Amino acid sequence: MPARVVYTDEVVNTAIARIPVLRKAGAEIRHTVHSAVMKTGPVGRFVADLLHGTWLGHPLHPVLTDITIGAWFFGSVFDLLAAATGLRRHREAADRLMEIGAMSAVPTALAGLTDYSTIKQEAVEHGAAHALLNSLALTLYLGSIRARHTRNRTLGLILSGIGLQMMLISAWLGGELVYKHRIGVRHGQRSGKLDHWTSVIRADELLESQPVRVDVDEMPVMLVRRYDQIYAIGATCAHAGGPLEQGKLVDHCIQCPWHDSVYDLRTGGRVHGPTTYNQPHFRTQVVNGWVQIRAAEIND
Ligand code: FES
Repeated sequence: MPARVVYTDEVVNTAIARIPVLRKAGAEIRHTVHSAVMKTGPVGRFVADLLHGTWLGHPLHPVLTDITIGAWFFGSVFDLLAAATGLRRHREAADRLMEIGAMSAVPTALAGLTDYSTIKQEAVEHGAAHALLNSLALTLYLGSIRARHTRNRTLGLILSGIGLQMMLISAWLGGELVYKHRIGVRHGQRSGKLDHWTSVIRADELLESQPVRVDVDEMPVMLVRRYDQIYAIGATCAHAGGPLEQGKLVDHCIQCPWHDSVYDLRTGGRVHGPTTYNQPHFRTQVVNGWVQIRAAEIND
């Protein structure tokens, strides 16, 4: 009988599934953080937008992780160099990098927690495991920094060595969240391919403030008559694929029913996160009683 191949993700998934508290506690934390953001109004929204990276047009968390992972990884490289050369400047470089990594871990964790507050259900366990491992890694690095300061270098090296391994497993989990669960990547389609006027619905079927979803060339589009203007943007929320036509209209904006991203109907532009992407945006006109749309521009 041929030997069964065991894949890394199988091992990790089995291990994560054996900790049921991850799903329960993770879901509660997710809900609590997102509720807190929504309850604190404009200030909470502003801080969350900052941490999601809505202003950047790219999730902020992976940008910050590069600093933390880079600092801790190269800190270990300098630890090895110091062991090989015995030079004090290599030891000092290692110690500074450990400190930089720990300092950058705080905003990195805050950005990650904010993203986690709007993560989809099936990714909750992986997200919680990722956060738990990162927290353990940070604790170990803080212990390492303290040990280095108190001249217990051997203990410092052991703690940062274990911390590095935790961080690398956690980084792998972070990759799973992006590439497998599609957290942080753009959902939906772009508007660019609809480059000609296309009739999509009779104008009298479009009632004031009642969004409608239509499929045009396999592209879901949300149409809404608002303040007697007709607007059309992509119907699939770029954050995680929520149905925008089921969202809540607020002035000239629509709020996604899944995680409350807000888009401007007039431009498809993102107004509030968690999304970091704009929606496809279409121009509209009414010809012979039909609403016609075409791509306004390619929104990035
Ligand atoms: S799917 Fe998450 S905000 Fe729309």
